[in-house]
Amino acid sequence: MSVTCVFGMQWGDEGKGRIVDLLAAKSEFVVRYQGGANAGHTVIVGQEKYVLHLLPSGVIQPDTTNIVGNGVVVDPATLIAEIDGLAKRGIDLQGRLFVSDRAHVVLPYHKTMDMALEALRGSDALGTTSRGIGPAYGDKFRRAGMRVVDMLKPERYEELLRANTGAWNAILEQAGMPAIDIPAVIEEMRAVGERVRPYVADTTDMLLSAWRAGRSILAEGAQGFGLDVDHGSYPFVTSSTTGPAGVSAGTGLPPKALTRVVGIAKAYLTRVGAGPFPSCDHGAAGRHLAEKGHEFGATTGRPRDCGWFDAVLARRAALTQGCDAVALMKVDCLSGLDEIKLCTAYELDGRRLDSPPAWAGDWVRCTPVYETFEGWSEDLGGARHFDDLPVAAQVYVRAVQAIMETPIEMISVGAERERFIPLERGVPVAV
Ligand code: IMP
Repeated sequence: MSVTCVFGMQWGDEGKGRIVDLLAAKSEFVVRYQGGANAGHTVIVGQEKYVLHLLPSGVIQPDTTNIVGNGVVVDPATLIAEIDGLAKRGIDLQGRLFVSDRAHVVLPYHKTMDMALEALRGSDALGTTSRGIGPAYGDKFRRAGMRVVDMLKPERYEELLRANTGAWNAILEQAGMPAIDIPAVIEEMRAVGERVRPYVADTTDMLLSAWRAGRSILAEGAQGFGLDVDHGSYPFVTSSTTGPAGVSAGTGLPPKALTRVVGIAKAYLTRVGAGPFPSCDHGAAGRHLAEKGHEFGATTGRPRDCGWFDAVLARRAALTQGCDAVALMKVDCLSGLDEIKLCTAYELDGRRLDSPPAWAGDWVRCTPVYETFEGWSEDLGGARHFDDLPVAAQVYVRAVQAIMETPIEMISVGAERERFIPLERGVPVAV
């Protein structure tokens, strides 16, 4: 019996889709438990590239059942577009994709509101993905949302929408934007609701039965620890609980069901959107990483800022989220740098910090304390054993493992499925 959670330890874009795809080969169920279409999980199989925003990354593995859990905010139009897109590529999801009847719906006006709120923030804008995530979760928590179960009852739309949109219209007026067109929303929801209907189920029941029958379940996190609404760089965060703590709330599985937590971290660091990033590198090294790592947002196409591995953030993620293992991604992208830096602590107003400060205003002012390592020039794409790595790469990876106090059980050296080094007992300690 196993319930594994895979989650991002940084600011998203760590490579979770690739790891979920690998682990899904051994899982019977894959479930998304939070976030929405703001995610962009990439899976590469042979010559084929799949970018998934809302569907669990297990859909690419033919034998998995995939679930969009109750904790996700579902944009029905995106859901249908993804289902149709995969069908065109020969992947039929009928009978192996289920959407929770309790999940909240991202309504068209949530996306408008996302943009209106960003415009009102002016220079303090968060740099959201404009996918309506904040407003949809906002409605959920102020108990003014539409859930999937409501979406299947068009006779209730009018009453529900009229009761729930008043507060938003006031903000739209302030932003100089037109009020919500309720008849247009009703028409759109009616159409998409019918398309989603065949996939709707009580997924909590399904997952509970699966768990009690000892089936293997993989919970796929989106975004990352630095964007977690409680633990991240608030307010420059997303609106959900991104780590394993979100699994129970977002699926209905009991907290004690979780048997393993795998954190995903890139060997360097990227961020898209606004917010603190002390180890950001605006020089040649940052450009090298952006180029080698193809660091452009899978959802928005925005270029990501790049910099050095931030152990303050990753260690906090590993320890607070109870990571059993870490998968260290994109180590191959470090090849060709003369030296590699590792941010081991922050300095703020002459004080050393080993944990991130609570206030983003302080976090922005932190300067990184670096340990510098020798670089390497070899191409790592063919490495399948730890000993295949150049000594300089071994030294760096070992240092990352030590500072996180968590075993690195996989090193990724390329985007393709087979390009990784498995390490059952973590990186071997130097002798
Ligand atoms: P939202 O989730 O669209 O509200 O955006 C809030 C912040 O999270 C912004 O800085 C986004 O760029 C960031 N963000 C949201 N989803 C992702 C993701 O999947 N990868 C990386 N950053 C993300």
